[in-house]
Amino acid sequence: MSIVIRNGTVVNATGEYPADVLVEGERIAALAAPDSGLAQQWASGAERVIDAAGKYVVPGGIDGHTHMEMPFGGTFSADTFESGTTAAAWGGTTTIIDFAVQGKGTSLLSALDKWHSKADGNCAIDYGFHMIVSDVNDTSLKEMEACIDAGVNTFKMFMAYPGVFYATDGEILRAMQKARDTGSMIMMHAENGIAIDQLVAQALASGRTDPVQHGLTRPPELEGEATSRAITLAKVTGAPLYIVHLSAAHALDAVTQARDTGQNVFAETCPQYLFLSLDDLAKPDFEGAKYVASPPLRPKEHQAELWRGLRTNDLSLVSTDHCPFCFKDQKGLGRGDFSKIPNGMPGVEHRMDLLYQGVVKGEITLSRWVEVSSTTPARMFGLYPRKGVIAPGADADITVYDPTAEQTISAGSHHMNVDYSAYEGMRLTGKVSTVLSRGRIVVDDNAFHGAAGHGTFLKRDLSQYLV
Ligand code: URP
Ligand code: ZN
Ligand code: ZN
Repeated sequence: MSIVIRNGTVVNATGEYPADVLVEGERIAALAAPDSGLAQQWASGAERVIDAAGKYVVPGGIDGHTHMEMPFGGTFSADTFESGTTAAAWGGTTTIIDFAVQGKGTSLLSALDKWHSKADGNCAIDYGFHMIVSDVNDTSLKEMEACIDAGVNTFKMFMAYPGVFYATDGEILRAMQKARDTGSMIMMHAENGIAIDQLVAQALASGRTDPVQHGLTRPPELEGEATSRAITLAKVTGAPLYIVHLSAAHALDAVTQARDTGQNVFAETCPQYLFLSLDDLAKPDFEGAKYVASPPLRPKEHQAELWRGLRTNDLSLVSTDHCPFCFKDQKGLGRGDFSKIPNGMPGVEHRMDLLYQGVVKGEITLSRWVEVSSTTPARMFGLYPRKGVIAPGADADITVYDPTAEQTISAGSHHMNVDYSAYEGMRLTGKVSTVLSRGRIVVDDNAFHGAAGHGTFLKRDLSQYLV
């Protein structure tokens, strides 16, 4: 069974060129120059020929940070693995890496089993896992080795959320030592949760209860401080460090400085920090609750710094931190007390499109768009060259992208299982036209052709991105 994609412009992280692509089974079999005549030969026996004239042919997106069915604040994020991966496919993303969560007093391996039972047989695209470590002890440190053998070699820790996920500096140090010894990597939620909790208590005690207080009680300095502290602990232990969902210029400064000295420090940012701001959190009538996530949205001035970081590779990639909660039934838990609003925002469907606006506006180049949304996530998380590149031998995870189509984001037309869009009414240039996941057409001409259970679990190699 073969598929030919003709007349398009192949865009890889290394550049773009006109080429025809032959897909055989689950893999890319060959690329050919358009004037070679090969595409005509391929087309004669092909099951399907896709005309990509005027379109880009890019490696399917890899979203390295999602939370499907995640327990948080007494509720669960609203997307299942089926609905979330389906929405991802609609937006040109063909791999997600989700976070299994170790609860306090439980084991890493039982968390991994639990996340497999949620995801296996239910995903429309391929998926892997990171592991959230919330209980550092001799047993869980030892279990990190078994996780690595099982293809889960990235461990998220929290300097925020005391009493829930929070880890002390000593616990972080011990986990980093283990990461150093095993070649694995610590991912850090870098916010000073101890100080933040005091600011939150003071705000509530003085009657400041609106959603905007979520942002005001988590100042960017406390993200910068935690980021610097995590970098220092990584330096002392010699472990690589990956900062998740970086939002503040203060934190980016710390990452930039560490990278300039050659430390293995990396960071991702998310579309919400590039396009939304504290002004959204300040929307009246509790509307701001739609934008509550941690770290919080920042004043607009931070956005230019983040785009700069993306250009200079101080920000290595863009993930969504997709963690949707419905406005009506879930965000509403925090009416009258912003600290009870479930933290998280939807976004898995629109990451490729939103980032493409950076190309349209001249913030990043076309090949950098592919690099930060697919190739670097593949290398960072041990999936390259199976994923993240249009090349013979790679999985046929391919997004055909129409750079001239126009669309308007709306909860009325999106496919995520959430009753609002954080980008409602935003007009975009560019749109996915066809998506292949391991050789299967899953989205084509505004229709979904995929199925739950097509996606397979990806046992990941160690990071291929370390210096
Ligand atoms: O607010 C957020 N980011 N929710 C998801 C959990 C996390 O910290 O990534
Ligand atoms: Zn986090
Ligand atoms: Zn997250």
